[in-house]
Amino acid sequence: MAVTILAIESSCDDTSAAVIRDGEVLSNVVANQDVHKLYGGVVPEVASRAHQVHIVPVVDVALRKAGVSREELDAVAFTRGPGLIGSLMVGVTFAKSLALALDIPLIEVNHMDGHVMALFAEAPRPPFPFLCLTVSGGHTMIHKVNAPLEMELLGQTLDDAAGEAFDKTGKLLGLDYPAGPHIDRLARQGTPRFAFPKPEIAGYDFSFSGLKTSILYFLQNQLRQNPDFIKEHLADICASVQDRIVSILMDKLTRAAHDTGIRHVAIVGGVSANSGLRQALEAAGKRHGWTTYVPAFQYCTDNAAMIGLAGYYKYLKGEFADQEVTPVARYHQM
Ligand code: KG4
Ligand code: ZN
Repeated sequence: MAVTILAIESSCDDTSAAVIRDGEVLSNVVANQDVHKLYGGVVPEVASRAHQVHIVPVVDVALRKAGVSREELDAVAFTRGPGLIGSLMVGVTFAKSLALALDIPLIEVNHMDGHVMALFAEAPRPPFPFLCLTVSGGHTMIHKVNAPLEMELLGQTLDDAAGEAFDKTGKLLGLDYPAGPHIDRLARQGTPRFAFPKPEIAGYDFSFSGLKTSILYFLQNQLRQNPDFIKEHLADICASVQDRIVSILMDKLTRAAHDTGIRHVAIVGGVSANSGLRQALEAAGKRHGWTTYVPAFQYCTDNAAMIGLAGYYKYLKGEFADQEVTPVARYHQM
């Protein structure tokens, strides 16, 4: 019999609901919160309140688009963490209430497992094992994925995430939040002629805080000599920053592929929408004989379909949460 799952994602500033049937996405609805642009970053209190407003209509639209009634649902999957506690609380509480009312099981999903499972939303789906670089506003990780939801963490960032490096640089340049897409667009018109240092970090781990500091000092120095430096060289600065972030990511991913001998290589998460990173992955794939995978844009950024896909595999294993479940802020607490 078919398994139909409603999934809820509310870990940061996007409220999302999706319906998944037997591992296929029937609907995936996301309500963004533009309000954070005013503040240059996500304000947790504002995000939680916006989730409260969005969650009921977003779930209704997801069910309607899928043509599924509440009574047809077999389980409710939700993001337990990592994320902002106030934001998670809205999704977790909604999921618990709905599961209780419908008397169906609850499935807790780790948001980072969700990002990896986004690769299974559409064909071509990677075979196991594969390497996955997860790059988002909050995380930068390389996993060896052995089976659905079975992954080994090979490396991660020791400080800022790759998305944060884009967003914080964008703030220095006066770009709107989130700055990643703006830097991407501007970089296409520029040349990477400013050299920023590459961090010396062992193994497959990453660090981006030094890059942010060096960009800050570089800009302060240039602005002292020419107050219009940013305005006059914006595209080249963006191209240089993007080039450096992409090379930091690709170096570690290439090393992991070389050392493990794995030739199926994927990138997921919000930053996988970056055109420079996509091109670099494709080029590395051609050079090293990898098959590469990147989810469609709607499955790269935060979305509930990826949570529902992870939830589906947990459903098959009979891994359910109880009504006492509470959200968690950090990855290692899951
Ligand atoms: O996965 P996501 O939607 O949310 C988190 O779980 O964090 O990722 C959001 C991040 C932001 O930092 C945003 O600037 C970045 O993804 N991003 C991009 C691009 N599109 C989104 N960064 C670089 N280039 C892009 N095209
Ligand atoms: Zn995310």
